Amino acid sequence: MSNLAILASGSGSNFQAISEVIKKSHHNVSCLICDRKSAFVMERAKKLGIKVFYVTYYNRDKSEAEKEIDSILNSQKVDLVALAGFMRILSPLFTNKWKNRVINIHPSLLPKYPGSHGIEDSFNSGDIELGVTIHYVDQGMDTGPIIYQESFTRCDGETLESAEEKIHRLEHRVYPQILIKKLDNFNKAI
Ligand code: GAR
Repeated sequence: MSNLAILASGSGSNFQAISEVIKKSHHNVSCLICDRKSAFVMERAKKLGIKVFYVTYYNRDKSEAEKEIDSILNSQKVDLVALAGFMRILSPLFTNKWKNRVINIHPSLLPKYPGSHGIEDSFNSGDIELGVTIHYVDQGMDTGPIIYQESFTRCDGETLESAEEKIHRLEHRVYPQILIKKLDNFNKAI
């Protein structure tokens, strides 16, 4: 069994999808770490019985917040960290310490359209192929070695809403599976 922590800032639909799949596996979601007090993801975690840690970035250095995150990860014996709509850029100090142990999902075919509007930017570009990227996290914004990408072809009459729904459905299907594969590798390494 390996321990996963999920970092999220928002609605938490990916958090929910990951947690439901991991619960049925031999791995464990140790905790949710959230940086926004009013984020709906915290409600989801409470309902699923998953421990929640709120870490504020307000009125202090990013390094202080990251130290707190690091100490939570250590105290919870976390093997792997999944970012699921965590809208912060992690510093090199943190990403080097957790190198190859922090994974992110982004709703575009990176390196195209990084940032917080991946779906809108991909949709508005007119690109025929839309999709998602799962990658290791480094100090950049949605950069780092790509682990997996999956795309679909924009259909006639595709709207932003329909594209958004397809992208989220795709995220919820592929992200838990990739995370389980990575968690399995930790077991093998021991
Ligand atoms: C997801 O679409 C995720 O790919 C995106 O935030 C959304 C969170 O939704 N992440 C990024 O844009 C990272 N740059 P959720 O809170 O419902 O899981």
